[in-house]
Amino acid sequence: MQIDRDVLDARIARGCRCFVARSDDEVVAFGWLATRTEWIGELELEITPRDSEAYIWNCATHPAYRRQGFFRAVVNGIAIQARREGLTRLWIGTIDIPPAKAVADAGFAPALRFTTVWHAGIRWLRVRRAETPDPDLQLAAREVLAIRGRPLRIGTSMKRAVLRRH
Ligand SMILES: CC(C)(COP(=O)(O)OP(=O)(O)OC[C@H]1O[C@@H](n2cnc3c(N)ncnc32)[C@H](O)[C@@H]1OP(=O)(O)O)[C@@H](O)C(=O)NCCC(=O)NCCS
Repeated sequence: MQIDRDVLDARIARGCRCFVARSDDEVVAFGWLATRTEWIGELELEITPRDSEAYIWNCATHPAYRRQGFFRAVVNGIAIQARREGLTRLWIGTIDIPPAKAVADAGFAPALRFTTVWHAGIRWLRVRRAETPDPDLQLAAREVLAIRGRPLRIGTSMKRAVLRRH
Protein backbone atom coordinates (compact mmCIF):
# COMPACT_ATOMS: atom_id res chain seq x y z
CA MET A 1 0.00 0.00 0.00
CA GLN A 2 3.01 2.31 0.39
CA ILE A 3 4.03 4.56 -2.48
CA ASP A 4 6.96 6.91 -2.04
CA ARG A 5 6.05 10.58 -2.17
CA ASP A 6 8.34 11.35 -5.12
CA VAL A 7 6.87 8.45 -7.12
CA LEU A 8 3.36 9.64 -6.31
CA ASP A 9 4.18 13.23 -7.33
CA ALA A 10 5.68 12.00 -10.60
CA ARG A 11 2.55 9.97 -11.37
CA ILE A 12 0.31 12.98 -10.79
CA ALA A 13 2.64 15.21 -12.81
CA ARG A 14 2.38 12.94 -15.86
CA GLY A 15 -1.41 12.94 -15.67
CA CYS A 16 -2.17 9.68 -13.86
CA ARG A 17 -5.15 9.68 -11.52
CA CYS A 18 -5.59 7.67 -8.35
CA PHE A 19 -9.02 6.32 -7.42
CA VAL A 20 -9.51 5.20 -3.86
CA ALA A 21 -12.02 3.24 -1.80
CA ARG A 22 -12.58 4.24 1.80
CA SER A 23 -13.83 2.47 4.87
CA ASP A 24 -15.02 5.24 7.17
CA ASP A 25 -12.34 7.87 6.65
CA GLU A 26 -9.53 5.51 5.86
CA VAL A 27 -8.25 4.75 2.35
CA VAL A 28 -8.22 0.95 2.17
CA ALA A 29 -7.84 0.32 -1.57
CA PHE A 30 -6.72 2.18 -4.66
CA GLY A 31 -6.17 1.89 -8.38
CA TRP A 32 -4.49 4.18 -10.89
CA LEU A 33 -5.68 5.33 -14.30
CA ALA A 34 -3.35 6.48 -17.07
CA THR A 35 -4.20 7.86 -20.49
CA ARG A 36 -0.60 8.28 -21.60
CA THR A 37 2.38 5.99 -21.86
CA GLU A 38 2.91 3.93 -18.73
CA TRP A 39 5.48 1.34 -17.72
CA ILE A 40 4.22 -2.18 -16.92
CA GLY A 41 6.78 -3.37 -14.40
CA GLU A 42 5.51 -6.97 -14.37
CA LEU A 43 6.25 -7.25 -18.10
CA GLU A 44 8.89 -4.57 -18.56
CA LEU A 45 6.88 -3.16 -21.43
CA GLU A 46 5.34 0.22 -22.10
CA ILE A 47 1.65 0.63 -22.81
CA THR A 48 0.39 3.63 -24.77
CA PRO A 49 -3.41 3.80 -24.76
CA ARG A 50 -4.89 5.32 -27.90
CA ASP A 51 -7.22 8.35 -27.89
CA SER A 52 -10.30 7.64 -25.79
CA GLU A 53 -8.57 4.70 -24.11
CA ALA A 54 -6.90 4.38 -20.73
CA TYR A 55 -4.98 1.88 -18.65
CA ILE A 56 -5.85 0.77 -15.10
CA TRP A 57 -2.83 -0.21 -13.07
CA ASN A 58 -1.33 -0.60 -9.60
CA CYS A 59 -4.48 -1.73 -7.80
CA ALA A 60 -4.12 -2.81 -4.19
CA THR A 61 -6.24 -3.39 -1.10
CA HIS A 62 -4.88 -3.10 2.43
CA PRO A 63 -4.35 -6.67 3.73
CA ALA A 64 -6.79 -6.10 6.63
CA TYR A 65 -9.58 -5.23 4.17
CA ARG A 66 -9.14 -7.91 1.53
CA ARG A 67 -11.98 -10.12 0.31
CA GLN A 68 -14.57 -7.48 1.10
CA GLY A 69 -15.13 -6.27 -2.44
CA PHE A 70 -12.87 -3.23 -2.41
CA PHE A 71 -10.84 -4.18 -5.49
CA ARG A 72 -14.06 -4.97 -7.33
CA ALA A 73 -15.45 -1.57 -6.26
CA VAL A 74 -12.33 0.29 -7.42
CA VAL A 75 -12.30 -1.40 -10.86
CA ASN A 76 -16.04 -0.89 -11.35
CA GLY A 77 -15.82 2.70 -10.12
CA ILE A 78 -13.01 3.55 -12.53
CA ALA A 79 -14.92 1.91 -15.40
CA ILE A 80 -18.05 3.96 -14.62
CA GLN A 81 -16.07 7.20 -14.43
CA ALA A 82 -14.20 6.38 -17.65
CA ARG A 83 -17.48 5.79 -19.47
CA ARG A 84 -18.80 9.13 -18.16
CA GLU A 85 -15.73 10.83 -19.60
CA GLY A 86 -16.30 9.26 -23.01
CA LEU A 87 -13.51 6.70 -22.92
CA THR A 88 -14.36 3.75 -25.12
CA ARG A 89 -11.83 1.17 -23.97
CA LEU A 90 -9.87 0.38 -20.83
CA TRP A 91 -6.84 -1.86 -20.60
CA ILE A 92 -5.87 -3.75 -17.47
CA GLY A 93 -3.33 -6.44 -16.67
CA THR A 94 -3.98 -9.07 -14.06
CA ILE A 95 -1.84 -11.72 -12.56
CA ASP A 96 -3.20 -15.24 -12.31
CA ILE A 97 -4.90 -14.94 -8.91
CA PRO A 98 -8.51 -15.52 -7.78
CA PRO A 99 -9.36 -11.80 -7.38
CA ALA A 100 -8.82 -11.39 -11.13
CA LYS A 101 -12.36 -12.65 -11.57
CA ALA A 102 -13.53 -9.17 -10.52
CA VAL A 103 -11.93 -7.89 -13.71
CA ALA A 104 -13.78 -10.37 -15.91
CA ASP A 105 -17.03 -9.58 -14.09
CA ALA A 106 -16.52 -5.88 -14.86
CA GLY A 107 -16.63 -6.76 -18.57
CA PHE A 108 -12.95 -7.02 -19.45
CA ALA A 109 -12.07 -9.65 -22.05
CA PRO A 110 -8.62 -11.25 -22.25
CA ALA A 111 -6.57 -10.18 -25.26
CA LEU A 112 -3.07 -11.53 -24.62
CA ARG A 113 -1.46 -13.85 -22.12
CA PHE A 114 2.07 -13.38 -20.80
CA THR A 115 4.66 -15.44 -19.01
CA THR A 116 7.70 -13.68 -17.60
CA VAL A 117 10.85 -15.04 -16.05
CA TRP A 118 13.77 -13.03 -14.65
CA HIS A 119 17.07 -14.82 -14.53
CA ALA A 120 20.66 -13.62 -14.36
CA GLY A 121 19.71 -10.05 -15.21
CA ILE A 122 17.64 -11.08 -18.23
CA ARG A 123 13.88 -10.72 -18.64
CA TRP A 124 12.30 -13.48 -20.70
CA LEU A 125 8.83 -12.78 -22.04
CA ARG A 126 6.41 -15.15 -23.71
CA VAL A 127 3.39 -13.59 -25.40
CA ARG A 128 0.42 -15.70 -26.46
CA ARG A 129 -2.93 -14.87 -27.96
CA ALA A 130 -5.74 -15.19 -25.45
CA GLU A 131 -8.70 -17.34 -26.32
CA THR A 132 -10.88 -14.54 -27.63
CA PRO A 133 -13.07 -14.62 -30.71
CA ASP A 134 -12.04 -11.02 -31.45
CA PRO A 135 -8.84 -10.77 -33.52
CA ASP A 136 -9.20 -6.97 -33.60
CA LEU A 137 -8.85 -6.92 -29.82
CA GLN A 138 -5.62 -8.90 -29.98
CA LEU A 139 -4.17 -6.61 -32.61
CA ALA A 140 -5.25 -3.54 -30.64
CA ALA A 141 -3.50 -4.97 -27.56
CA ARG A 142 -0.34 -5.65 -29.54
CA GLU A 143 -0.47 -2.10 -30.90
CA VAL A 144 -0.76 -0.38 -27.52
CA LEU A 145 2.22 -2.49 -26.42
CA ALA A 146 4.19 -1.75 -29.59
CA ILE A 147 7.97 -1.64 -29.42
CA ARG A 148 9.62 0.98 -31.63
CA GLY A 149 6.38 1.37 -33.59
CA ARG A 150 5.89 -2.34 -34.24
CA PRO A 151 3.00 -4.26 -32.66
CA LEU A 152 4.22 -6.51 -29.87
CA ARG A 153 5.32 -9.81 -31.37
CA ILE A 154 3.58 -13.06 -30.44
CA GLY A 155 6.27 -15.47 -29.22
CA THR A 156 9.27 -15.39 -26.94
CA SER A 157 11.78 -12.62 -26.48
CA MET A 158 14.47 -11.60 -24.05
CA LYS A 159 16.16 -8.39 -23.01
CA ARG A 160 18.33 -7.04 -20.26
CA ALA A 161 16.18 -6.59 -17.14
CA VAL A 162 15.66 -3.03 -15.89
CA LEU A 163 14.11 -1.78 -12.70
CA ARG A 164 12.06 1.40 -13.02
CA ARG A 165 10.44 3.21 -10.12
CA HIS A 166 7.14 4.38 -11.50
C1 LIG B 1 -5.57 -8.38 -5.64
C2 LIG B 1 -6.20 -7.52 -4.58
C3 LIG B 1 -6.16 -6.04 -5.08
C4 LIG B 1 -7.66 -7.96 -4.38
O1 LIG B 1 -8.27 -7.04 -3.50
P1 LIG B 1 -9.61 -7.38 -2.69
O2 LIG B 1 -10.18 -6.05 -2.27
O3 LIG B 1 -9.34 -8.38 -1.65
O4 LIG B 1 -10.53 -8.05 -3.83
P2 LIG B 1 -12.10 -8.20 -3.77
O5 LIG B 1 -12.54 -8.35 -2.33
O6 LIG B 1 -12.75 -7.11 -4.56
O7 LIG B 1 -12.28 -9.59 -4.46
C5 LIG B 1 -12.76 -9.76 -5.78
C6 LIG B 1 -13.25 -11.17 -5.90
O8 LIG B 1 -12.14 -12.08 -5.77
C7 LIG B 1 -12.38 -12.95 -4.66
N1 LIG B 1 -11.12 -13.13 -3.95
C8 LIG B 1 -10.32 -12.17 -3.46
N2 LIG B 1 -9.22 -12.69 -2.88
C9 LIG B 1 -9.37 -14.05 -2.98
C10 LIG B 1 -8.59 -15.14 -2.57
N3 LIG B 1 -7.43 -14.96 -1.92
N4 LIG B 1 -9.02 -16.40 -2.87
C11 LIG B 1 -10.21 -16.60 -3.52
N5 LIG B 1 -10.99 -15.57 -3.96
C12 LIG B 1 -10.58 -14.32 -3.68
C13 LIG B 1 -13.39 -12.26 -3.79
O9 LIG B 1 -14.12 -13.19 -3.00
C14 LIG B 1 -14.23 -11.55 -4.81
O10 LIG B 1 -15.16 -12.42 -5.40
P3 LIG B 1 -16.71 -12.41 -4.96
O11 LIG B 1 -17.16 -10.98 -5.07
O12 LIG B 1 -17.33 -13.31 -5.97
O13 LIG B 1 -16.73 -12.91 -3.56
C15 LIG B 1 -5.47 -7.64 -3.20
O14 LIG B 1 -5.39 -9.00 -2.88
C16 LIG B 1 -4.08 -7.04 -3.22
O15 LIG B 1 -3.91 -5.85 -2.91
N6 LIG B 1 -3.06 -7.85 -3.59
C17 LIG B 1 -1.71 -7.33 -3.71
C18 LIG B 1 -1.60 -6.43 -4.93
C19 LIG B 1 -1.94 -7.20 -6.23
O16 LIG B 1 -1.69 -8.38 -6.39
N7 LIG B 1 -2.49 -6.44 -7.22
C20 LIG B 1 -2.77 -7.01 -8.52
C21 LIG B 1 -4.23 -6.98 -8.84
S1 LIG B 1 -4.50 -7.88 -10.37
